[in-house]
Amino acid sequence: MAPKIQLSSGEPLAAERAVVAVGVVQGALQKHKVLQGLDQALGGSLFAEAASSDFSGAADAQVEVQGTGRISARRVLLIGLGPKRSLDAARLRSFAAVAARAASQLSAPGLTLVLPEKTSGEALRAVAEGAVLGAYRFTKYLTGERLPKQELAEVDVLLAEKPTAADKKQVALGVKLAEAVCIARDAVNEPPNELTPARMATLAEEIAKANKLKIKVLDRAGIAEAGMKLHYAVGQGSVNEPRFIHLSYTPKRAKQRVVFVGKGLTFDSGGLCIKPAPGMGEMKSDMGGAASVLGVMAAVAALAPNIEVHGVIGAAENMPDGEAYRPGDIFGSLDGKTVEIINTDAEGRLVLADALAYAKNLGPDLIIDAATLTGACMVALGKNCTGFYTADDRVAKRLEAAAKHAGEQFWRMPLLEELREQLRSDCADLKHTGDRWGGSISAALFLREFVGEVPWVHCDIAGPALSDAARGVLPKGGTGHPVLTFLSLLEQLG
Ligand code: BES
Ligand code: MN
Ligand code: ZN
Repeated sequence: MAPKIQLSSGEPLAAERAVVAVGVVQGALQKHKVLQGLDQALGGSLFAEAASSDFSGAADAQVEVQGTGRISARRVLLIGLGPKRSLDAARLRSFAAVAARAASQLSAPGLTLVLPEKTSGEALRAVAEGAVLGAYRFTKYLTGERLPKQELAEVDVLLAEKPTAADKKQVALGVKLAEAVCIARDAVNEPPNELTPARMATLAEEIAKANKLKIKVLDRAGIAEAGMKLHYAVGQGSVNEPRFIHLSYTPKRAKQRVVFVGKGLTFDSGGLCIKPAPGMGEMKSDMGGAASVLGVMAAVAALAPNIEVHGVIGAAENMPDGEAYRPGDIFGSLDGKTVEIINTDAEGRLVLADALAYAKNLGPDLIIDAATLTGACMVALGKNCTGFYTADDRVAKRLEAAAKHAGEQFWRMPLLEELREQLRSDCADLKHTGDRWGGSISAALFLREFVGEVPWVHCDIAGPALSDAARGVLPKGGTGHPVLTFLSLLEQLG
């Protein structure tokens, strides 16, 4: 359960919770009214500790002081916000998340967040998002001793000014959006024996019901009947049969139509071209793209953009089996093009090819796909940055702005035409892989074959879908990246 978030203003010492976290703008430590009060109550230990740790409010710097019974809080945390001029939504979100995670780890039932002056409106939304994202833990499969003793239940957000009705609305929206990110995180963290393609469809149905969205699900026979031959081929080696999922949000008088497409490999063993054992378990996160589409669709009704928003997911499990697809096979596709299979571990682009062709047939203004597509993209950009591809400079700029606002790292990659030759097959219209060099680019070029003339962005999220360690808003494990960027983009477009 996400903590309950309340806005308040006034005397901080009267209302403090087990943990008090104060966001400190660089250089503003001594002048801080709330801190002066706390320091006095603590007999000067707060400023003394800050001085001895050289704390000046630099971004991400942190100081912790015990309450020692002098105040009702058990601990006071000072968290650096960095210089005032660069204090944006992303920084505030990260501050609230770091504070909420620290409070959760201390088994504190409550947290008071003290914000800088003049934090209101949209900035409060970011704070609420951060608090919910920082308190997130995936505990579903823990029992007994391993279960957390205390959930962070309440977060008071202390403002210098009295909160307005608009402020409260922003907080409620922030909670809803962050909960949608947590839906994506949960889906990535679920083990592959539990989150099968069929279960992903059930999850999509629950999201549709809760948010009054339309939904269509195709099972294995439905996928065959629809002509999604590539999607079918990838799923044919698994007893956990594939599903195709289409969610839609269709407000009246919408001016645009946007389709999000997600790769939903609930597990990717590599198929007959089986992956090496080390790290294979991480391939439960190979549905990170689909999870982010589910997250977007779980939030879209609350965000209520004046845009028709569709979420399309190709869900399958890639397994080696007597019935599995093989290198050398040739299949048709929903689009009509034929594809020669080279390596069964390049399954994601096959599932996406059919899902993109389906998306194109919806007649959209924009298609955006998200996929844990290539190890090559992680080699290029590291584990915390999405590589995105688009031919449209305006869309690229908007996506970059959205990512900045969301605090997520995106870097534009080139659709190098000369690599297109690698996809030429002797016996089919296309081969589905090129050589090792530029592997993320040739994957993007393969996808491009299926979107026709529709403006399109491909996001390779192989790195950031999963995090090695908790940092800022990110927990260890499933991150929910890039739900916030996609939501921010929708806001910009609508
Ligand atoms: N799901 C993987 C990509 C991946 C690797 C994501 C590591 C996250 C972490 C994808 O299906 C895959 O196996 N890609 C191959 C493509 C190759 C066979 C052309 C790869 O990147 O090695
Ligand atoms: Mn693979
Ligand atoms: Zn994969």
